[in-house]
Amino acid sequence: MTPEQRAAELRDLLNRYAHEYYVLDLPSVPDAEYDRLFRELEALELAHPALKTLDSPTLRVGAGILPGFTPVVHAVPMLSIRTETDVTENGAFAFDASVRRELGLGADDPQVEYAAELKFDGLAMSLRYVDGLLVQAATRGDGTTGEDVTQNIRTIRQIPLRLNGNPPALLEVRGEVYMRRDDFEALNARQRERGDKTFVNPRNTAAGAVRQLDPALAAQRPLSFFAYGLGEVAGWSGMPATHSGLLDALAGFGFPVCVERDVVLGGAGLVDFHRRMRERRDALPFDIDGIVYKVNALVLQRELGFRTREPRWAVAHKYPAQEALTTVEAINVQVGRTGAITPVARLAPVFVGGVTVTNATLHNEDEVRRKDVRVGDTVIVRRAGDVIPEVVSVLLEQRPMDEVVGGDMFTPALQPRYSAFELPKACPVCGSHVVREEGEAIARCSGGLFCSAQRKEAIRHFAGRRMMDIEGLGERYIDNLVELDYVHGIADLYTLTLDDLLAMKRRADERDGVVPETVLAGKVATRWAENLIAGIAASKHPPLARLLFALGIRHVGESTAKTLADWLGSLALVRRAPAALLRVLPDIGNAVAVSIADFFSEPKNQQALDALLAAGVAPADEHAPSAKLRTQLDPLVLLAALAIPKLTETRCKQLLEKGVTLPALADATAEQVAGFGLPAEVTSALQGWLTDPAQAAQLHVLDALRNELLAQLPEQSAAEGMLSGKTFVLTGTLPTLSRDEAAAMIEAVGGKVSGSVSKKTHYVVAGEAAGSKLAKAEELGVPVLDEDGLRALLM
Ligand code: IVH
Repeated sequence: MTPEQRAAELRDLLNRYAHEYYVLDLPSVPDAEYDRLFRELEALELAHPALKTLDSPTLRVGAGILPGFTPVVHAVPMLSIRTETDVTENGAFAFDASVRRELGLGADDPQVEYAAELKFDGLAMSLRYVDGLLVQAATRGDGTTGEDVTQNIRTIRQIPLRLNGNPPALLEVRGEVYMRRDDFEALNARQRERGDKTFVNPRNTAAGAVRQLDPALAAQRPLSFFAYGLGEVAGWSGMPATHSGLLDALAGFGFPVCVERDVVLGGAGLVDFHRRMRERRDALPFDIDGIVYKVNALVLQRELGFRTREPRWAVAHKYPAQEALTTVEAINVQVGRTGAITPVARLAPVFVGGVTVTNATLHNEDEVRRKDVRVGDTVIVRRAGDVIPEVVSVLLEQRPMDEVVGGDMFTPALQPRYSAFELPKACPVCGSHVVREEGEAIARCSGGLFCSAQRKEAIRHFAGRRMMDIEGLGERYIDNLVELDYVHGIADLYTLTLDDLLAMKRRADERDGVVPETVLAGKVATRWAENLIAGIAASKHPPLARLLFALGIRHVGESTAKTLADWLGSLALVRRAPAALLRVLPDIGNAVAVSIADFFSEPKNQQALDALLAAGVAPADEHAPSAKLRTQLDPLVLLAALAIPKLTETRCKQLLEKGVTLPALADATAEQVAGFGLPAEVTSALQGWLTDPAQAAQLHVLDALRNELLAQLPEQSAAEGMLSGKTFVLTGTLPTLSRDEAAAMIEAVGGKVSGSVSKKTHYVVAGEAAGSKLAKAEELGVPVLDEDGLRALLM
């Protein structure tokens, strides 16, 4: 193969993989394979610059800084569409009526067919393809003349550089460049972490990125694209007759086309789509500001034509805005479950994103400073999706100012009426010190569970729907139970009596100066209290995973809690598992393992658990540790999980091969360590590590626990093994597992590994350069797994 042919092959492959990954969300090869081919192409192009074509994926990385943008005159102007301001259903009916009128349709004529789609909140882009190659990307500008932003647009992986199939000789595709909400949040989190300015909203950020003169910077802002129409087109013989058909064809050429679209009939069909999408709006991964209705048949579009600069065949039907203006009445701070102090703006009530908002988060001290939000300010609040409402920015020109001495008659001296926000030094709830550690954005109350705000939050979390799911335990009750000291910790919930609850209610009413109707009538309402007691009692036997999640251990979410429950099986084991044992469980990294072990090493937490058990709380589904644990208890895996400085996995292996066991290592003298035959620096690091008696103790504990667990685990390849009775054949080279390792993993859960493929084989695990066994498997219809498939099966 000539370099030219290879480069063409690589370009095709990479462009196909990028389309699978970014547009279809269905990658067929691992990322590493993409990277490998990408580097190969880069190297080829470096050696033969002539091979660098316009559709080369290597151009996506971002070229040199541009001096400015070149104007582009649009061959077909980029028009805007009329906005229907009536946000009720009438807006849709009015559009249908005007289309029917223009088309001269009577009441008895059939319904008009419409393509209904989303109105994306980004910026319009025109992409020009000649012979299937992207040659130019231009912004809308004033509709007639835009700017050439080709270099920046190339960095958007979703946009095809070369079209699939048989595209027309000239094709201009119009669509919207936008930023997904999760990409936006992640970008802002990164900015915040670095102490950089955060971005206001996805739309502005996308617009800014497209018009960024340095394509390398543009490439760091994750943008997306949806195609929704056409500009200039030439040489398209099989052009579809409908707008929906056009969008299908564009998807076929490789463009991302939003799946949330439909072909509907008449005004009622439009209304129905508008309503369905309003319900979906918050769940969409990106912002929309409405719906676009388009007459579907292109002949009818032509017949309807344009009125000045707007087509008569399309309209935008808006939704209520997700941003609004309001004023700041106060700035308070809230104390979270982990003591995190969050400044919150109390706002004059404003309707935004479909709800009335009265509070908005200001995230942390630095954010308030950066945005300089003050009492009295007029601010933009934003509520998009189910994200907590936030203050986006301040309208400085509307800040209330006071005149002060020092001005003259023409220019009075002014100063802001309210001063800049300062974080309180003491927790507003419990008075403990507020501490903000070096390099941390979040300040915390140091009161721990002494702080009633933290206790309330801990109980709120514990009782939550996805945790212990205590029915009837609402916010107000939690507040009162904690404030009036009926509940100090989670275990106290389970010893509450009916009398306690009624007394609590009476005291709370007295404190608040309210006299309930029932009391006036000479009665005492007890139903709620009975229900709450029943709700608490009903929560006593949750699945272990939920109980673990409910404890509110830092870094332990639902999925980590499930891993702990699945693998370790019992609360008793989780409570005493050292960090090194936790680390060998799937998806539990060092920070999480340490956080769990720290939680349980805290006597107060152990006492709270004991109290909980004493009150009768017991997980319903405890079991022996999983058989899968056996492979993870291999001394090599455990030793590596200890993360001893400089002791790489290879070095661990070396030690074990020398017959060094965990307890022997724990008790080894410096001289003995020197005799292990490790390189000098590894030896001294290991010697240093072992001088800490806590480390040696840890090794002993780990070893004892290992032996205890091995004795409890179901027998290897026992009948109850997850894959017992299943026969596997291994062939070829797997990416990371050796053949022995793969076999050991299969056998650990009861599977059998055999040497030849037959009808009785259940699975063939095939790697690189698999030969006749793979062919045989395919011939016999035996399922074939790759390494990932095997791992998934063993999970
Ligand atoms: S069609 C001639 N479809 O809304 C019709 N526009 O004023 C051309 N927009 O800035 C526009 N989503 O960028 C169309 N599904 C959609 C759209 C859409 C968003 C934007 C467009 C333009 C404005 C229309």
